Amino acid sequence: MGERVAVVGSGYVGSVVAACLAHVGNAVVAVESDRGRLEQLASGQAPFHEPGLDRLLRQTLDDGSLRFTDDFGLAMDESDIVFVCVGTPPGPTGNPDMSAMQSVAQLIARHLRRHHIIVTKSTVPIGTGYWLGAMIEDLAGTTDADGLFSLVSNPEFLQEGSAVQDYLHPDRVVLGSDDPAAIRRVAEVYRPILEQKIPGDVGGRDPVPLLQARMTTAEMIKYASNAFLATKISFANEVARLCDYVGADVTEVTAGMGLDVRIGGRFLNAGLGWGGSCFGKDLAALVGTAAEYGYQPPLLQATMSVNNLQRQAVVAELLRQLKTLRGSRICLLGLAFKPGTDDLRDSPALDVALRLAERGAFVTAYDPMVTVVPDGHDIRIMPDPQRAATGADAVVVATEWPQFLALDMTSLADVMRGDVFYDCRNVFDPGAVARAGLRYVGIGRPPVRHPVTSVLDASGPDAAGQLQGPRASVVAVATDAPVSSIS
Ligand code: UDX
Repeated sequence: MGERVAVVGSGYVGSVVAACLAHVGNAVVAVESDRGRLEQLASGQAPFHEPGLDRLLRQTLDDGSLRFTDDFGLAMDESDIVFVCVGTPPGPTGNPDMSAMQSVAQLIARHLRRHHIIVTKSTVPIGTGYWLGAMIEDLAGTTDADGLFSLVSNPEFLQEGSAVQDYLHPDRVVLGSDDPAAIRRVAEVYRPILEQKIPGDVGGRDPVPLLQARMTTAEMIKYASNAFLATKISFANEVARLCDYVGADVTEVTAGMGLDVRIGGRFLNAGLGWGGSCFGKDLAALVGTAAEYGYQPPLLQATMSVNNLQRQAVVAELLRQLKTLRGSRICLLGLAFKPGTDDLRDSPALDVALRLAERGAFVTAYDPMVTVVPDGHDIRIMPDPQRAATGADAVVVATEWPQFLALDMTSLADVMRGDVFYDCRNVFDPGAVARAGLRYVGIGRPPVRHPVTSVLDASGPDAAGQLQGPRASVVAVATDAPVSSIS
């Protein structure tokens, strides 16, 4: 039998945690204060797009292992372990806004009748575990919490778009606490995940490592992991810049690097840079923590500034290609911060769209999942790529949705006014784009020298079907193209 668990906050993380912990055999009561969201969740519908979550919600609600409530007292009565999953969005100074955590501390203090283990899943500044403990003690009118509650930090590493799978099949589970008994108890909640005995799974997966640590160490693992992933991407983007200078292809360079198992190939895709709700916020928080100690971490700062430069560089390249942005028509393919989600938080695509509109460009966009943009964004959302590209001087691939690869490039070229195809995610075959009569521009990839067709137009093939005229430039097309595009 599992544990009795309460999950506080049913946003991106909380709803996945609640459904997954119920699915693996715990009795879960999830608290949500927003009425609309509560009703939606209680009817088995996730309030955002997350593959597999709706199904898991319905299944666990049906079998009674999960229920939703807005009654905090009831959740405390019916649980022994409370997972805190409230949001900690960036505040005006860049440091996380802790007001939701503060409210949870108040509610816990008010309803604490017997011992509970309080598990923080929200990404919180290092030391927050101790802060939360002191706060609950204070509000509960005691300075000795022994016997009243224990604190555990359990950072979350799930990625949007694969959150359910990431939660059920994690690379590791980290539990940080100064109370070993509390760690053992929370490990019980995770037992089926740690042993990879997930109901309905065919099995065959290795057990998941459990890392036990001090509270601050666990909190730091989360920040350091996200900072490292963001640094890896910024590194690839810096290498891409150098590739542009020397004429190398960054996709082949990073593929070559990634084959070294010490480096690994993931999170080395150069492009428009990272975005989303976590990387920027967590890096800013870590830099903020360092500043409290009078330290300016140069590597983390560089990671952020390379990411920002990447967005600026895309605008600069469009300016170079189009000569003027004012009055240009630019079509963005993709708006979400990455494929597989409708999330626009810190989306590089949206940021670039905004910068282009500010410079006087007319921006249209198509995204398979984004149908509205926040107020103040002068972007016309179109129902399909073809219409978004109609009359465009440049098409910019800003989010690498897989369905974009199936686009008919020739008909795209036909509806465009100009011929710039800016593949900001390096997912297209430059040769195929060039063959459709478009000018391929990538990030750190040599352009295919084009237009071949104008060479043909100028002189035409001879009787033997051979190209006439400036042959040397035609040969250059073949030799400059990446190996994969020479057929
Ligand atoms: C991230 C972490 O991966 C996850 O462990 C943590 O719990 C939350 O933050 P997420 O925000 O869902 O997850 O997105 P992720 O898949 O990590 O991508 C982040 C950004 O990096 C996206 O904008 C993506 O497009 C970009 N990215 C990713 C690259 O630019 N290149 C890459 O090689 C990989």
